[in-house]
Amino acid sequence: MARYLITSALPYINGIKHLGNLAGSMLPADIHARFRRLQGHEVLYICATDEHGTPAELAAAEAGQDVATYCAQQYQIQKDACDGFRLSFDHFGRSSNPPNHKLTQHFCEALEKNGLIEERVSKQIYSIDDKRFLPDRYVEGTCPNCGFERARGDQCDNCGTLLDPIELKNPRSKISGSTNVEARDTAHLFLKQPLMQERIRAWVDQATEWPPLARSIAYKWLDEGLIDRSITRDLSWGIKVTQNGQIRPGFENKVFYVWFDAPVEYIGSTVEWAEATGGANSQEKWERWWRTDKGADDVTYVQFMGKDNVAFHTVSFPVTIMGSGEPWKLVDRLKAFNWVTWYGGKFSTSEKRGIFMDQALDLLPSDYWRWYLMANAPESSDAAFTLEQFQQTINADLANVFGNFVNRITRFAASKFDSKVPDGGAWGANEDKLAQEFAERLTALTQFHEQMEFRKAAAELRAIWVAGNEYLQVAAPWTAFKTDPEAAAVGVRTGLNACALFAILAQPFIPDAAKTVLDAMGVPEKNRMWPNPADRGVWDALPRGLQINPPDVLFKKIEDEQVAEWTAQFGGGA
Ligand code: MF3
Ligand code: ZN
Repeated sequence: MARYLITSALPYINGIKHLGNLAGSMLPADIHARFRRLQGHEVLYICATDEHGTPAELAAAEAGQDVATYCAQQYQIQKDACDGFRLSFDHFGRSSNPPNHKLTQHFCEALEKNGLIEERVSKQIYSIDDKRFLPDRYVEGTCPNCGFERARGDQCDNCGTLLDPIELKNPRSKISGSTNVEARDTAHLFLKQPLMQERIRAWVDQATEWPPLARSIAYKWLDEGLIDRSITRDLSWGIKVTQNGQIRPGFENKVFYVWFDAPVEYIGSTVEWAEATGGANSQEKWERWWRTDKGADDVTYVQFMGKDNVAFHTVSFPVTIMGSGEPWKLVDRLKAFNWVTWYGGKFSTSEKRGIFMDQALDLLPSDYWRWYLMANAPESSDAAFTLEQFQQTINADLANVFGNFVNRITRFAASKFDSKVPDGGAWGANEDKLAQEFAERLTALTQFHEQMEFRKAAAELRAIWVAGNEYLQVAAPWTAFKTDPEAAAVGVRTGLNACALFAILAQPFIPDAAKTVLDAMGVPEKNRMWPNPADRGVWDALPRGLQINPPDVLFKKIEDEQVAEWTAQFGGGA
């Protein structure tokens, strides 16, 4: 038994996430966590909302709420949607909670002791009418690179260039629209990343378990040369900047930059979990996962994220935790995703394009979305979500292949074998062939899960289900029943055992449907663990004579009318 710490990139607090966000970090992380638990490993799956920075403040202002109230509400909305999608977090925390404040301040003080922090005066945009500095997205203006007139202070959405607000031409306040702004001196803390350059490079060199994409992004940053990075902002909502435990003089109206504190919340959320569950031992409990001097040296730490997050996880956050000089756990494996698009374009709440997490759950149970999104995971390239392909995938894989298999065999057992797992009959060539194919495919499926290759894992699982249907086709217990009841008994017994096995393997992807089947088959919890390909005993695992209850139709087909309706509602097609 090994120990796995799993984190998925923390969703921004500013509004519920769309299906593409879900598919690019939280959902695959959940599937991996479930798989590792089924293998019997000790798993801690941690996530949280990312609540600081200008996006949170601006969204709150737009909603007409103070930031704290806004964040508290949005947190609950996101948490409910995550529960609805059956994301099996051990803890879903908040980057605004006290443990993250303490840890973030601690890291900054440790970095300063190690000579990695410099306080420096620089020019920032100040709005005379708003009487405040305008960091990041509080400024808009013309992009110095492409001339786009609505570039944001931190980034131009037209050409993708990362910007410093001071570089914008014709800057104006996002708060008041005022152009009465000027560049003013203000002090900020800079993290001297160049001093860590060689240590980070050496660490990336040994990170052979990262996918090529992640390593190449890290090397690109290292080759360009790390730069001093400002880690504070002139904002009020966020984590206060301290020195020796007191507010740092001159920093009364400043907080840490959101990208400095957000990844620290992976640890903060673990502390929240430990405090909520660990009582007097809470410190020991979380340090076991994060401090290599306190037992975390045998933890495998796996991170899930979209590709735009890779540099922050392979370079910036490691600078923070390695620079502290303390024995913190670093990422071992990393899985990065491309984008899910909505018919090739962007999801957009304001323009009503695409389906968001809460809306999806109003349409269909979570298993339908989970399956489609992972069977088409944006692994080697972007993947377009289309309602037509969604309909096709669900109807083919879940309704026709898996659902139909379960339905046929359980109903036949109910009508002809008194709903019991039959005794009698002998294992023959058909059963051998099924068991052989199953063992080979299970070996592959297990490897794909271990390698976090989600499309391939889904395809392999589907192939296992198909093999089951093919078996029923040739064993045809319904025909044998009249002429050779013993053969029919073997066919039904094998079919019912296959049904349980298929559901066991389906648990990471479609946990609700899998549970329905396993409950119907009377499989006790302890027998729902990931099987071993070499174990032939799995084909006789259901006790003979066991009573089963055929489940209702597992998956309803998606009808053309539904696709038409949803297209109108969510702007498909175009
Ligand atoms: N909120 C960021 C995003 O959605 C991800 C933050 S990940 C963390 O892109 F590591 F900073 F927490
Ligand atoms: Zn631009």
